[in-house]
Amino acid sequence: MTMIPMHEPCEPTRSFLHLTACRLLALACLALYAVASRPAPAQTDPSVPALLLGSAWYPEQWPESRWDADLALMEAAHMHVVRVGEFAWSRMEPAEGQYDLDWLARAIRLAENHHIAVVIGTPTDAPPAWLTVKYPDTLRMDENGRLAQHGGRRQFNYSSPRYRVFCAEIAGRLAQRFGHDPDVIGWQIGNEYTDESFDPATRTLFQQWLQHRYSTLDALNQHWATAYWSQTYDRWDEIPLVATGGNPGLLLEHRHFVTDTWRDFQRVQIDAIRKSAEPRQFITTNIGGLAWSDHFDHYEITRDLDLASWDDYVGQGQLDSMRNGAMHDFVRGWKRMPFWVMETQPGSVNWAPINTTLNRGETRVMAWQAIGHGANAALYWQWRSALNGQEQYHGTLVGPDGEPMPIYSEVTQIGSEFERTSPALRDTQPVAQVAILESYDSRWTIDFQPHNRNYDELQVLLDWYRPLRLKNLTVDIVNASAPLDGYKLVVAPGLNVIPPELAAHLRAYVEQGGHLVLGPRSGMKDEYNSLNPQRQPGPLVSALGGRVEQYYALDGAVPVSGALGSGTATIWAEQLTTLASDTRVLLRYGKSNGWLDDQPAMVTRSLGKGSITYLGALLDAPLMQQATAWMLAGAHVEPEFASLPLDVELCRRVGTGHTIYILLNHGAQPAEVALPAPMTELLQGDAQVRAVTLAPEGVAVLEESTGATGR
Ligand code: GAL
Repeated sequence: MTMIPMHEPCEPTRSFLHLTACRLLALACLALYAVASRPAPAQTDPSVPALLLGSAWYPEQWPESRWDADLALMEAAHMHVVRVGEFAWSRMEPAEGQYDLDWLARAIRLAENHHIAVVIGTPTDAPPAWLTVKYPDTLRMDENGRLAQHGGRRQFNYSSPRYRVFCAEIAGRLAQRFGHDPDVIGWQIGNEYTDESFDPATRTLFQQWLQHRYSTLDALNQHWATAYWSQTYDRWDEIPLVATGGNPGLLLEHRHFVTDTWRDFQRVQIDAIRKSAEPRQFITTNIGGLAWSDHFDHYEITRDLDLASWDDYVGQGQLDSMRNGAMHDFVRGWKRMPFWVMETQPGSVNWAPINTTLNRGETRVMAWQAIGHGANAALYWQWRSALNGQEQYHGTLVGPDGEPMPIYSEVTQIGSEFERTSPALRDTQPVAQVAILESYDSRWTIDFQPHNRNYDELQVLLDWYRPLRLKNLTVDIVNASAPLDGYKLVVAPGLNVIPPELAAHLRAYVEQGGHLVLGPRSGMKDEYNSLNPQRQPGPLVSALGGRVEQYYALDGAVPVSGALGSGTATIWAEQLTTLASDTRVLLRYGKSNGWLDDQPAMVTRSLGKGSITYLGALLDAPLMQQATAWMLAGAHVEPEFASLPLDVELCRRVGTGHTIYILLNHGAQPAEVALPAPMTELLQGDAQVRAVTLAPEGVAVLEESTGATGR
């Protein structure tokens, strides 16, 4: 490999890391561009691997004499990045105001010797004992009034002004020391924002936040319809702070408050770091692997960050490739640009009901799946387990003896493949013709009142996502308010909340030639979680020329048939009617509860240069597949590849003049794939091939030349 020149033209000094310095400068510029327009690639410096493999590393847990051996093993595994520091506060500031960052500087210098770049985590997820003992107001209180205590992590109160002063101070100190360090490529704020606080001071902040938002209690009382159950508020300080069981308006506002509070918590540290850090150093935070169910809005949280990153864990069992792929697409959509997997499991975790291990080869498939969906880095958690502490049983790359575990060889293979394919994957990214729309407000409002306990929104998303992926299409999952031009087809499986501005945005997309398909429960609520006085889809009734007469929670299957095929609906069914003469019925219910019998289940209408369609039921998989085929045909979505064996997943990253296809065999049998054009097999000696055979857990990375103009 020639990837690490010792002297970069743009930096007079050290090794691998200023390769990264240049790259990150470019990344920062591109990030700015990406916020305003389409996704931008994250790697541009040709001297650095476009794909980075790495690990979480905790030098503070080990004697310094051991560090070099760890880093040498990482280098031998072709790792080029470590994340350090995110739980090391008691080592960085052993007593109030006494800082010791020299050890970290020495660890970074050693990493540099091994061509390993560093991401520094600010340690604010785990405050030291001296801090919370002296200042108990920095501790978090749960919804039952219980104060967290030292000995675990996440015991801090995210809204505490005092805690934020300490956070700003430690983050600022780190940035003063390492903000110009050529080996430090980025920053991670805290670790997996998770637990909010319900202490009296936070309650007051919530009340002030509401006052700022509504200005008057009359407005709040009206939007929350507080005449109901005598909930009317006469003073701001009467308003409770609850996360469950309250007025739906209050519950939704609490999530908005949680989002704003985490965003402020993060902002304080971003500001402290940016005072000293060079712009080339990115700032991110690692969003937890259960990102789907967090209580804050990731589109908002990542707005202030340069890079989205998340922690991708399987837990018990094997990789659910459809679900995991959807999660990657969801994360890519937060900033609509390539992202990092900041943590992933080396085989097994310690927190699942049964901590099974990924099969041999599955870790490699998972790493390549991340890349296929737009990640540019994957870091294992963790390198080596502390000899004591709560996570002794977690999967690691080296054992308690410091020697490689069995998984190390598979990870080494991934590292060498990342190095090998980096030149071809540079500046490539997924490009989609189809988008799925998401909105946290909609997700939360349905979660608060699912009306059918089997209504699982992630499952609904996957039911819409799967048939698109089975057609081998790249799928973007984006915020409902994101720019939609460029998408031929946009589907919105559960936009429960459609305020007037969002309705206007969607209508404009349709009128300009887009094809929009709304799913069940669309347009029922406004931004205050109040029922739209119009029936569903609320402000889009006139565009659709149809509406929902009534919704029904189902405990059995209802027959559905029509021009698109026949099958069943379960869990949820809406009785639709057409209001305009040009609104067509595509599917009808068969005999069921009498109310639904022979009533429309799916209607469509041409509008402007495009079309709007409403599907009011959760369909079985074969019928959903047929409905999806109809959507794709109507929107003229072009195929991106030939058809594939069922267990083979296709991912596509597009660059200028070439396209990369990543094929993953998730099945237990070998799979033969005939390629639609001659391609270069990048993992197998750059051979020109017309077909590939994938072993179980097999991966192929193929490059197709598409000419000077690309695509
Ligand atoms: C993550 C966390 C890590 C580690 C890991 C174990 O959620 O960020 O610090 O605890 O889980 O799987």
